[in-house]
Amino acid sequence: PAGAGKSTIAKLLAEKLGILYLDTGAMYRAMGLKVLENGGNPKNPDDVIPLLRDTDILVQHENGKQKVYLDGRDVTSEIRTNQVSNAASDVGTIPEVRVKLVELQRQIADKTSLVMDGRDIGTYVMPNASLKIFLTASSEERARRRWVELREKGMDVDYNTVLQEIIQRDYNDSNRSFAPLRKADDAVLIDSTGKSIEQVIEEIEDLLKI
Ligand code: DC
Repeated sequence: PAGAGKSTIAKLLAEKLGILYLDTGAMYRAMGLKVLENGGNPKNPDDVIPLLRDTDILVQHENGKQKVYLDGRDVTSEIRTNQVSNAASDVGTIPEVRVKLVELQRQIADKTSLVMDGRDIGTYVMPNASLKIFLTASSEERARRRWVELREKGMDVDYNTVLQEIIQRDYNDSNRSFAPLRKADDAVLIDSTGKSIEQVIEEIEDLLKI
């Protein structure tokens, strides 16, 4: 779920293993931004689906940093606002959006070893992954992390608002009918509440050795 530490952990783990890191949330975020920029409602399939054909989303690494391009434009920082988080969650409920983005994700994974992060990777995108981790933490801890992150970026946000949005986003992501947020039966559950990033990475590295 949101704020569990997926991106941080996946990125560092990929670096340590010397393989690619793919942040699938960034793709949903770019799609959410596209809809907002076109004046559409990210919840409304009639506003979203017609845009899919003319949308080009690219996630690539430049000098060790992940860059996200929407129709050739660098949107790396723009996609990190709260408004875009919510739009990403909304467009992610639309099956046509998922089909397009999952196809892209599988194409990338076909070519290279990677650490992929996202809510449906273990259950839907990569059912045969060699190791699946379901990373979570309490909603209060996740909201606190997100709140600190947004404040560090200079955004003046209220903790309770972030907490409510996290709860709403969990609900939205877990209750959509197509490929919802769910632990795969063969995924290992790691609760990162009260754990340091290093501790979580060590746990995963130990699992890789098994
Ligand atoms: O991981 P994130 O917070 O950047 O993701 C933003 C939203 O994108 C999330 O609330 C739901 C959607 N998403 C998704 O539906 N499936 C994924 N694999 C990744 C993200």
